[in-house]
Amino acid sequence: MIPHLLILGGTTEASALARTVADAGLRAVLSYAGRVDKPRAQPIPVRVGGFGGVDGLAHYLRAEGVTHVVDATHPFAAQMSANAVAACAATDVPLIALTRAPWQAGPQDRWTLVPDIAAAVASLARPPRRVFLAVGRMHLAMFAAQPQHRYLLRLVDQPDGLPFPDCQVVVDRGPFTAEDDKDLMKNHDIDLVVSKNAGGTGARSKIDAARELGLPVLMIDRPAIPPRDEAQTPAQVMNWLAHSGVNLGV
Ligand SMILES: NC(=O)c1ccc[n+]([C@@H]2O[C@H](COP(=O)([O-])OP(=O)(O)OC[C@H]3O[C@@H](n4cnc5c(N)ncnc54)[C@H](OP(=O)(O)O)[C@@H]3O)[C@@H](O)[C@H]2O)c1
Repeated sequence: MIPHLLILGGTTEASALARTVADAGLRAVLSYAGRVDKPRAQPIPVRVGGFGGVDGLAHYLRAEGVTHVVDATHPFAAQMSANAVAACAATDVPLIALTRAPWQAGPQDRWTLVPDIAAAVASLARPPRRVFLAVGRMHLAMFAAQPQHRYLLRLVDQPDGLPFPDCQVVVDRGPFTAEDDKDLMKNHDIDLVVSKNAGGTGARSKIDAARELGLPVLMIDRPAIPPRDEAQTPAQVMNWLAHSGVNLGV
């Protein structure tokens, strides 16, 4: 079989997989939602923008002759992941997710676990604090319900407008080190970090920095995603491809 992979991306892990499949000489396309103004350069062709729900993705898979889908999206991109499960089932295209284990609190971490973003917002109903709100751009509006805090945001692009009266924005793109993030948090007198439990290494620096500074972290748990095959590394994805009829020697 001559494979044609669709990689659903937007993560460090998807970029690593794109490098692996490029090195193997496989035909593959990396898909971005289009949330970032200038995505990183990639060694395989890139497409940008939503597919149009489950039906749109199913149509894309058929029209492009996609033979395999790898969902390497962020663990909080639950809609895209659910759509991939449904569209691959409808078209009989094999699907695997490239996932990363959630972070686990160690003895020196000061985490408060909350099940979702709404619960994180609710638990911020308390006197003003200096909050490093490290949750990306998409759900910031929900935190407008707690305007009493001074928020620090770190975003890939300069936002058009922000829903907070007291807010500082750092426009920067990782990877960051724990030392970088310790400096950032000290410079902004941060006393609370709010984070999604992304797992992996790409976004971990703020968690390590919070531990080293003894700061509390409000840790948001992952959304549920329908069951699918999973791999934890690009090598495991390649192994899965080899076992589903792809000749990796091409
Ligand atoms: N959520 C996070 O915290 C987070 C953090 C880092 C990176 N990201 C990346 O940012 C992207 C968007 O995340 P999200 O949480 O907004 O997703 P989402 O809520 O699961 O997806 C919403 C819609 O965006 C489109 N979409 C999402 N990912 C796509 C992709 N890779 N290629 C093409 N279309 C995509 C799909 O539109 P259609 O229904 O029209 O197909 C999807 O239904 C993802 O690629 C994800 O990997 C997300």
